[in-house]
Amino acid sequence: MRIVVTGGAGFIGSNFIFHMLEQYPEYRIICLDKLTYAGNMSTFASVMENQNFRFVKADICDREAIDQVFVEEQPDIVVNFAAESHVDRSIENPGIFLQTNIMGTATLMDACRKYGIQRYHQVSTDEVYGDLPMDCPDLLFTEETPIHPSSPYSSSKAAADLLVLAYYRTYGLPVSISRCSNNYGPYQFPEKLIPLMIANALVDKPLPVYGEGLNVRDWLYVEDHCRAIDLIIHKGRIGEVYNVGGHNEKQNIEIVKLICKELGKPESLITHVTDRKGHDMRYAIDPTKIHNELGWFPEMKFEDGIKKTIQWYLAHWGQTPA
Ligand SMILES: NC(=O)c1ccc[n+]([C@@H]2O[C@H](COP(=O)([O-])OP(=O)(O)OC[C@H]3O[C@@H](n4cnc5c(N)ncnc54)[C@H](O)[C@@H]3O)[C@@H](O)[C@H]2O)c1
Repeated sequence: MRIVVTGGAGFIGSNFIFHMLEQYPEYRIICLDKLTYAGNMSTFASVMENQNFRFVKADICDREAIDQVFVEEQPDIVVNFAAESHVDRSIENPGIFLQTNIMGTATLMDACRKYGIQRYHQVSTDEVYGDLPMDCPDLLFTEETPIHPSSPYSSSKAAADLLVLAYYRTYGLPVSISRCSNNYGPYQFPEKLIPLMIANALVDKPLPVYGEGLNVRDWLYVEDHCRAIDLIIHKGRIGEVYNVGGHNEKQNIEIVKLICKELGKPESLITHVTDRKGHDMRYAIDPTKIHNELGWFPEMKFEDGIKKTIQWYLAHWGQTPA
């Protein structure tokens, strides 16, 4: 099996590549990444000598470069993680989000149509559903929940999802989509909540929390997400969407206080800053479909996963973030 993993030098993509190399040493894994600020090639130092791993620096919007990789590698599967992924940056500059997240997805799928593929898998997000009210805790996102994104980031991801389903319906492209909740774990760029708070706390810098910090996210350990994608690309039904989430809702402020406690830092470092424009209040995933169809469930308990994650950043950053 030959798998092209786009955006593989980012947070979830790199964890997925390590997962696949370990689970399927006989597979050939090609990481295709533009290496934006969020991509880090040094992550792969330990596998660069592996004959079954190749790194290609390319932009998913670059048709010639993508065609070349398809001709050289003849992939069976493409898993598309490549994206601009930070909501705050999308509010500042939506254009690059539309370009990479929508046009890049179309470019990849065009190559899949041209050269043939067993499966194109789109890594999407629960943010395409918009947000849930705080006062209806039983309400969860299912695959039937209407798409209702709030930010330029989530709109671009939603547009890409619609395009993926359109390529399935129109051209019969064998696609699948996963929509996952917030991930945490190793190799995340320190602009996202958990690594940012760890990075700042380590050097006693203020811990900026939007508004009161009451926004709720459903946190999933990154390896559990990687296992879900592994199952979907091997056994998931073509043309289907699978929600992936941990039934693990936490307020942002809870997470930040937990990090202070684990690092032995005072909560007085927490500084409340002006809320994000259009900030989604609550996300919560119903993962019944992937559980019933593919037997997936989250294995990592949050209490263990967050400790493991903090330990990882401590080991890799020491007292100062990378
Ligand atoms: N982080 C989360 O909690 C989360 C949750 C659900 C879904 N997702 C989705 O998972 C995917 C990966 O997220 P992440 O957190 O690992 O993101 P990330 O920002 O850490 O990594 C994105 C990677 O894509 C690469 N990239 C960006 N533009 C590119 C382009 N034009 N061509 C090729 N490569 C390009 C970057 O260099 C980087 O390596 C995204 O599609 C995101 O929407 C993320």
